[in-house]
Amino acid sequence: MTQQGHGLGVRCEGVVHLYKTFGGHDVVALRGVDLVIRPGERVAFLGPSGSGKSTLLALLGGIQRPSAGRIFLDDEEISRMGERYLARIRSRQVSTMLQGATRNLLPYATARQNIAFARLSLSNAERRDAILDTELLDRVGLLDQADQVVSTMSGGQRQRLALACAVSTAPRLLLADEPTSQLSHEDRDHVLHLIHSLGDDFGTTILVVTHQPEVAATFPRSVTMKGGRVGSEGHGGSEFAVVGEDGVLHLPGHIAAEWAPGTLVRFEEDDHGRLVVSRADAEVHS
Ligand SMILES: Nc1ncnc2c1ncn2[C@@H]1O[C@H](COP(=O)(O)OP(=O)(O)OP(=O)(O)O)[C@@H](O)[C@H]1O
Ligand SMILES: [Mg+2]
Repeated sequence: MTQQGHGLGVRCEGVVHLYKTFGGHDVVALRGVDLVIRPGERVAFLGPSGSGKSTLLALLGGIQRPSAGRIFLDDEEISRMGERYLARIRSRQVSTMLQGATRNLLPYATARQNIAFARLSLSNAERRDAILDTELLDRVGLLDQADQVVSTMSGGQRQRLALACAVSTAPRLLLADEPTSQLSHEDRDHVLHLIHSLGDDFGTTILVVTHQPEVAATFPRSVTMKGGRVGSEGHGGSEFAVVGEDGVLHLPGHIAAEWAPGTLVRFEEDDHGRLVVSRADAEVHS
């Protein structure tokens, strides 16, 4: 891998993920995700509940392996990597903050001890260069809770501490699953500031899952998941549909609401050579 301090590039090729259930039938969480994220890019992931956002993040963080397809961080394929090497990448290069802050923390340790634990795998030199834990706690508004045990903290405090732990190693890729869902507006803004300052200071690649449009609006690119695929993308305020496997295209939400399944659609060029998409069922059935 390239030197510490540069963001990692991410590439997914036809990523599929199935969960096996006790009932014997499989749940298909991802149905073929193709995605390229450049080093240092900051992307917000949106989409309805169950669309596969958390599954995708866990796969990118090397916490689960895809059932099919390939995932690359820079030029290394983590989907086929040996467990020991993958564990090294997870502890040194990639920080994943899972959905539900408590899953990321040691409940009977203090805030400061949790940060120290997150940094265990760093070398002495890396630890010397890292943000001081006092400053980190200050930036998430937890200076007064530095020596408080996690199990006595509120949900919002745990969420802020989980993020502080995730950024404490200055990772090359930060994956944060709903890091602001339980926060007040003020705390949300502090957390967002900390996330973006990681990108500004270290060039970290940052992927954040959120249901909050105002959080997504702080990211230059958004990816909206739909039914286990990438449904659409937003760049600089404009929304684009994304062509999937076999030419499948998700309609933008407001059109999908009006065009029921089975609606006939015509693609034709206008006089200026521009492609026009129109509803044709009325003329066909009249
Ligand atoms: N451990 C699991 N076992 C079985 N099915 C699972 C498991 N985890 C997720 N799923 C299923 O996989 C699909 C995608 O779930 P995922 O958690 O990735 O969605 P999500 O977009 O993060 O949703 P939310 O916005 O509610 O967090 C859903 O149908 C979900 O029920
Ligand atoms: Mg989720």
